Amino acid sequence: MPGMSETDLASRYRKRTSRRWSDRLLQALHPPNPFVMNPAEPTDFPLGRWNLYIGGAGCTVQGYINIDLLAIPGVDVVADAEQLPFPADAFQRVECDAVLEHVCNPERVLSEIRRVLAPGGYVHLVTPFCHPFHECPKDFRRFTIDGLKELAGPLDLIAKGWRTGPTATLLVIFIEYVKLLLPFRAWRALSHVLCGWMLFPLRYLDLLLFRSPDAGRIGNHCYIWLRKPVNHPDSGIPD
Ligand SMILES: C[S@@+](CC[C@H](N)C(=O)[O-])C[C@H]1O[C@@H](n2cnc3c(N)ncnc32)[C@H](O)[C@@H]1O
Repeated sequence: MPGMSETDLASRYRKRTSRRWSDRLLQALHPPNPFVMNPAEPTDFPLGRWNLYIGGAGCTVQGYINIDLLAIPGVDVVADAEQLPFPADAFQRVECDAVLEHVCNPERVLSEIRRVLAPGGYVHLVTPFCHPFHECPKDFRRFTIDGLKELAGPLDLIAKGWRTGPTATLLVIFIEYVKLLLPFRAWRALSHVLCGWMLFPLRYLDLLLFRSPDAGRIGNHCYIWLRKPVNHPDSGIPD
């Protein structure tokens, strides 16, 4: 399995905003996402004066301090989520979306999130469950909703569910499977574009399947929202 260095990853993110004609052509051909977001996932918990986005390289995250391992435009602070360079109780909201599968020690990250979250503040964790291996720059694990709740420790659970559903799982795995059958990189890139464009309309089936209590058996990404109690034991204690 080929590895992904931080330099390769940074170059992949830079290509997304590159103005070179070859990169712009690739961006134009890029198929729509093979998933739809679950409309039931809450998104409207209040932002405060200071909010933290963990692992947002390559994303625009207005209203947040964006930290990532990669020093690329858009990242405000280059830092490891396992050692956040911020004081206790600093942030009203912490977003950690598709990052915990990539860190060496997710327990340590959660301990840091609990420390920097202000009493009464909200944290949003999103992680893959049934999803292909993807190095960013490493890929260590997958999560269930119960696993995320366990990891959260003494934070109050506010909401939980599936962000992306069974059809997303089927499509992302099918596209990876087809690529496995092809010997050349150019063919794999072409099949990614063709399969992506042909199959993406199926993604809307998840809008029906999210209603099934069994959707999570092969769910793609799950989420939980948590709140730090006002009298939380980690408040004010530097780790
Ligand atoms: C899959 S991307 C998620 C990007 C974004 N949140 C999204 O949903 O599109 C994972 C990001 O986490 C970053 N990352 C991985 N390990 C990290 C760590 N220990 N500390 C901070 N960021 C990390 C990676 O560099 C990468 O930019």
